[in-house]
Amino acid sequence: MPVLRKKSVEDVEVSGRWALVRVDFNVPMSEGEITDDRRIRASLKTIRYLLDHRAVVILASHFGRPKGKDPSLSLKPVAKRLSELIGQPVRFLDDCVGPAVEEAVKSGKPGDLFLLENLRFHPEEEANDPRFSARLAGLAGLYVNDAFGTAHRAHASTVGVTKYLPAVSGYLMQEEISALSEALEDPARPLVAIVGGAKVSSKIAVIQHLLPRVDRILIGGGLANTFFKAQGLEIGKSLVENDYLDTARQIVQQAGHKLVLPADVVIASKAEAGAEQQTVSTDAVPAQWMILDLGPKTVERFAGLTGSAGTVIWNGPLGLCEIPDFARGTHELARRIAGQRARVVVGGGDLVGALEDSGVIDKLGHVSTGGGASLEFLEGRELPGVAALEDR
Ligand code: 3PG
Repeated sequence: MPVLRKKSVEDVEVSGRWALVRVDFNVPMSEGEITDDRRIRASLKTIRYLLDHRAVVILASHFGRPKGKDPSLSLKPVAKRLSELIGQPVRFLDDCVGPAVEEAVKSGKPGDLFLLENLRFHPEEEANDPRFSARLAGLAGLYVNDAFGTAHRAHASTVGVTKYLPAVSGYLMQEEISALSEALEDPARPLVAIVGGAKVSSKIAVIQHLLPRVDRILIGGGLANTFFKAQGLEIGKSLVENDYLDTARQIVQQAGHKLVLPADVVIASKAEAGAEQQTVSTDAVPAQWMILDLGPKTVERFAGLTGSAGTVIWNGPLGLCEIPDFARGTHELARRIAGQRARVVVGGGDLVGALEDSGVIDKLGHVSTGGGASLEFLEGRELPGVAALEDR
């Protein structure tokens, strides 16, 4: 697959145009408060560029997975946070299509900023309904997609709308596709991949796609347990997928020296904060214990390999990071990598959450805003929201 090159906002005239901008403002929220605004901040550059170049900017996003109109999944709190971050008023419209929306948007002047209500309040969005796509497209003369996090969904606002409007990428979309596609297709060598996460089943496709491309693949997290068991090691009460033991054996055989598994692990009597824990070699896990994190020797070994890498692709946490006691391996490796010379690409989703408390997330090169989207990209799958954009 060649490195992807898509047209961007800089390749088209935006001045005086109404731009429908698909963003991914599906941010974590608790009791109406945004707990992490990373995704909003990540799209500011695109929004700022369009406003400064005299476009009327109409932002559209989904939020959560509503079944019909659900007031608890309104994007209204996002309008407030966006307004604070961008330093200008955001006109929030309480629907995303319909005569009132059309009229409000039409009254916009260059430099005005609108945010539409949650696209998924209309089931036609996820159904990629052509009439709904046409209604959305009718609000603007140009479509900009900056929603990398939703690029794996073929919905009306990510794909359908591109049938009706010139379709280009925003800066965030550009950064995401160039960081991920260069790391995969044209990396500085050696290329080292780190794959973690709970289950082998959800990472097989990534491992298979990465194996022929990488110089090393370092495995950690719950999925490593299935590899240990496949090699006949005792894993006690650790999470394991017995249906995938053969798959794990095949991967080990296929990967040869490229594959590196943890040599020591942190084990505990229970997967609970404050539970009794020990560090042991992977061939010395007692029957009643469970593996929950990397041990320090493994962190050292992994850091040695990333230290001589030109590129590191990291997908998935390496311990049970929801519990801080078992996030140490992931955090320590992140700190080491942050001080090394490799170009780093961090897949989104759980790993980003796990790295939030590491203190170095902003020193890790490219941190993707897409969980499912970056996973599918690393699996080598075409993302419909990217494919629909005009090629450069
Ligand atoms: C995400 O958070 O991964 C994206 O916003 C996509 O959301 P979805 O999985 O509900 O389509």
